[in-house]
Amino acid sequence: MREEKNKEMMIRLFRVSKHYGKKSALIDLTVDVAADDFVFVTGPSGAGKSTMIKLLYMGEAISSGSILVDGVNLARVSRKQVPLLRRKFGIIFQDFKLIPTRTVFDNVALVLEVAGVRSREIQTRVMEVLDQVGIADRSGEYPQILSGGEQQRVAVARAIIANPKIIVADEPTGSLDPDSAARIFSLLQTAHAKGAAVIIATHDRELIASHDGRVIRLEDGRIAKSSSEPDMLQ
Ligand SMILES: Nc1ncnc2c1ncn2[C@@H]1O[C@H](COP(=O)(O)OP(=O)(O)OP(=O)(O)O)[C@@H](O)[C@H]1O
Ligand SMILES: [Mg+2]
Repeated sequence: MREEKNKEMMIRLFRVSKHYGKKSALIDLTVDVAADDFVFVTGPSGAGKSTMIKLLYMGEAISSGSILVDGVNLARVSRKQVPLLRRKFGIIFQDFKLIPTRTVFDNVALVLEVAGVRSREIQTRVMEVLDQVGIADRSGEYPQILSGGEQQRVAVARAIIANPKIIVADEPTGSLDPDSAARIFSLLQTAHAKGAAVIIATHDRELIASHDGRVIRLEDGRIAKSSSEPDMLQ
């Protein structure tokens, strides 16, 4: 995977469109995300938020345009190289995507196993991050017996544990009560302070209005309003 370094920009979308059959989910979208950005992607249901996020880690293929991630042109990433690309990301999926046959501990540990971390270090780091998201006491349980909010916390733990360069989060606080949401959100801010570019897709106006961050508003697959001022959201 050839990395053409561009120091400031972690992600560049240039004239990106995505069509699902006749449906156009994204149309001619040009967006840059800096390495130190904290970005909210907002807009009504069906606007293209999840689609935009999926294109970044090659969860879906673009129909036209180009995307650079950390200097890598995704058009040049082969199917075999996709797992390598994904290691740049911590991904919080809208539907969590936890592995049902693995315990909470093992779901999170898997990220470090793949990265070749020694098992004693895995033990310590996983318990530490489960503690941070407030779910350490459930480490031996299987995801399906956890509530939606608890599963979401496991998903967040898995996304931040390997200190990825980019964190993408699709409605990361969608299933949480206000206290848990605030706690999860502050973990994303900590990851950002440690150097990750963070991109959060969310409907949650209150979350956006009460935090600093750039706002990209999508409507019908296009940018409606982009700003660094949360109060320009309306
Ligand atoms: N796999 C798919 N096949 C066909 N159409 C799709 C597919 N995925 C998304 N779409 C369509 O693309 C559009 C954008 O969907 P997307 O999931 O990106 O919206 P969203 O902004 O994330 O919405 P929400 O806020 O409800 O999560 C929608 O009209 C959706 O129906
Ligand atoms: Mg979505």
